[in-house]
Amino acid sequence: MATDVLERLKWRYATKKFDASKRLSEEKLSILKESFNLTATSYGLQPLKMIILSNPDLKKLLVPITMDQDQVENASHVLVICTETKIDSDYIKDHFNLVVKIRSTPREILSSFEEYLVSSFSDKQSDELNIWSTNQAYLALGNLLTVCAIEKIDACPIEGFDPDKYDELLQLNEKGLQSVIVLAVGYRAEDDMFSGFDKVRKGVDEVIIEMD
Ligand SMILES: Cc1cc2nc3c(=O)[nH]c(=O)nc-3n(C[C@H](O)[C@H](O)[C@H](O)COP(=O)(O)O)c2cc1C
Repeated sequence: MATDVLERLKWRYATKKFDASKRLSEEKLSILKESFNLTATSYGLQPLKMIILSNPDLKKLLVPITMDQDQVENASHVLVICTETKIDSDYIKDHFNLVVKIRSTPREILSSFEEYLVSSFSDKQSDELNIWSTNQAYLALGNLLTVCAIEKIDACPIEGFDPDKYDELLQLNEKGLQSVIVLAVGYRAEDDMFSGFDKVRKGVDEVIIEMD
């Protein structure tokens, strides 16, 4: 089983050329949506949303604001992982309302933790909040990359894009969101030469330090 996982992880690579004629099935998309939602987040607050784009005209518009990387045009779908711009006491209270609703936990059991979170988040400067929520977005990215590998979906994580221009084009600020990271997903083109390249990684013994 462990070998299977490693084989899947070795199979995946940052796809440079997608086959524009191949589309993800609804079943695969649904797996990606669920996996995004199942990502672990700090305190379980899920300060994230994911935009899914597949419209060819819209994907074309993304190319110039993605450092001319045409994966965003040729991929089946472009996933834009966004963070919530406002994490205030109402946001935190809504989370605890959900806990009560789903687990039927009495509110009084949760209230001291809830108060702690409300107070700790109200003390955070906006830069600190941004870093915190951006970290959660990268967790979702990692989760999705692994799920893609297991599901034999090709993917390219993309940091080389202009977040302000994405926010403007997709009207993300109006939705209380800002774009953090992009993930192009679909199927590799047969002639993507990168698919045959050896993985460039340090030796495991170089990156792991075992302490007895
Ligand atoms: C956060 C992040 C951002 C990345 N941004 C880009 C990008 O903008 N364009 C690109 O072609 N690859 C991008 N990559 C892919 C990396 O270059 C690639 O994962 C790395 O070289 C290791 O290669 P592999 O994923 O094929 O094993 C990004 C990867 C990560 C994790």
